[in-house]
Amino acid sequence: MNNNKIRNILTLEEKDLKELVRTGNISVCVVGVGRIGLPTAISFANSGFSTIGYDINANLVHMINSDDYPLKDEPDFDEMFHKAVQNKKLHATIDDKDAITNSDVIILSLPTPMDKNNIPDYSAIISVGKKLNQLLEQNSLVIVESTVEPGFIENELIPLIEGNGERLKVGRNLGVAACPETANPGQILRDFSVVPRLVGAIDKRTLKIVEEVYRHVFKAEIISLPDCKTANASKLTANVFRDVNIAFVNELAILFEKLGIDILTVLKACDQKYNFEVHYPGAGVGGPCLPVNSYQLLNSGKFLNGKLKLVKAAREINEHMPHHVIELLVDALNEAKKSVNDSTIAILGISYKPNVKDSQLSPAEYIVKELLDLKARVKIYDPFFKGEEAYSLKTENSLIDAISGSDGAILVTAHKEFCDIPPSLLVEKMRTPVMVDSRGVVDTAWAKKAGLVLRGVGREVIRK
Ligand SMILES: NC(=O)c1ccc[n+]([C@@H]2O[C@H](COP(=O)([O-])OP(=O)(O)OC[C@H]3O[C@@H](n4cnc5c(N)ncnc54)[C@H](O)[C@@H]3O)[C@@H](O)[C@H]2O)c1
Repeated sequence: MNNNKIRNILTLEEKDLKELVRTGNISVCVVGVGRIGLPTAISFANSGFSTIGYDINANLVHMINSDDYPLKDEPDFDEMFHKAVQNKKLHATIDDKDAITNSDVIILSLPTPMDKNNIPDYSAIISVGKKLNQLLEQNSLVIVESTVEPGFIENELIPLIEGNGERLKVGRNLGVAACPETANPGQILRDFSVVPRLVGAIDKRTLKIVEEVYRHVFKAEIISLPDCKTANASKLTANVFRDVNIAFVNELAILFEKLGIDILTVLKACDQKYNFEVHYPGAGVGGPCLPVNSYQLLNSGKFLNGKLKLVKAAREINEHMPHHVIELLVDALNEAKKSVNDSTIAILGISYKPNVKDSQLSPAEYIVKELLDLKARVKIYDPFFKGEEAYSLKTENSLIDAISGSDGAILVTAHKEFCDIPPSLLVEKMRTPVMVDSRGVVDTAWAKKAGLVLRGVGREVIRK
């Protein structure tokens, strides 16, 4: 239980608030202590606040309370985690009542994925919103760090928390703010200290409290925005900007392959100009953020009769890329006089981005499925998923196990381990030395010299 609850954080005089923040006399509950919520909870705890993580995952709660750090691929937080738990500043619970009623500030770091029809799924936030209606004390503060569409907080979440408005009402005794998280897995600690935080709130009083509290916890600058929906729109705009720009280079990549132009050379040249921002082509855009965020914005497009043409086209291009990778593989196998249907193909990497253990919406899933549909045998190796199961296949324990006897290798994720594989090793170990490098990490000239049949997204085809 959080013992430090001061009650009525919303009604504090400014100097009292400052003093309580300075002395860590505010109790915080982070709802959802996953990839983003746990580092957030650790940061609050190590800033002096008594912090409780509420989560429905009992195993995760047990790990946290046993001082067993769960985010092994986010090593920067390891020591901070142990410090927070051992100092009894951080603990976790599956008891919603205990966590919510005994906290002054409730931070929602709940998943906001999409369903199989690409419609945003806010069910976790909706379910917690209903609980808040029952459990939240008056004059407490709710901060939504999850990524949601602009307007979701105002139009859907607040009415749920307020219920009939007799007990809880924004403007009277309920503070609600948005601080959509923008940190990048694998570098969350760095991002917490340098990437400005976007904050919007339902009223000025709430905004001031969030600014005060966050300024105490995070080094990064705070960008105060007029309201929650502007904060959420800013988060989505930044991420969808990336999805759209990656789609642009992916489309060019396919064109340049045909024209015999290396896109990496082009991008390097463009990057010399002051107003160009480089994005890289690849096997597709995965993860819990970019694809989902584009669909969240597309869902908001209902206010424009569904007309957000550019974002929609970008999604189509990026979702075509895994299939394009298979086209490159088939082309390379043809050169090696092999057909895909009796080949063994090694998938190198299933994480959606390098050096993290996260395969949500990874292009690897589509690639594996299409290979199996084409009757290829598939081996998977990812240093973060050694010996586990992925897409109903047991993964390999080493790179050598994966490539030995294979007829093709597809580099899907540019994990560190895959960035300097000598092409001669592939030629030595593979039955047919064919590779598709979807991330532009293999040196084409080196590959040719070693006798590797190589194709790459946006790379010039160099025939043996
Ligand atoms: N992972 C990222 O790269 C990233 C980056 C920036 C922002 N975000 C956003 O942050 C939010 C959280 O994402 P995440 O990646 O940390 O998700 P996650 O799945 O890693 O963690 C979410 C946690 O919430 C818990 N949970 C689910 N339903 C719950 C419920 N009803 N009550 C209590 N706990 C519940 C889960 O058990 C899990 O531990 C999402 O909105 C996401 O879009 C994610």
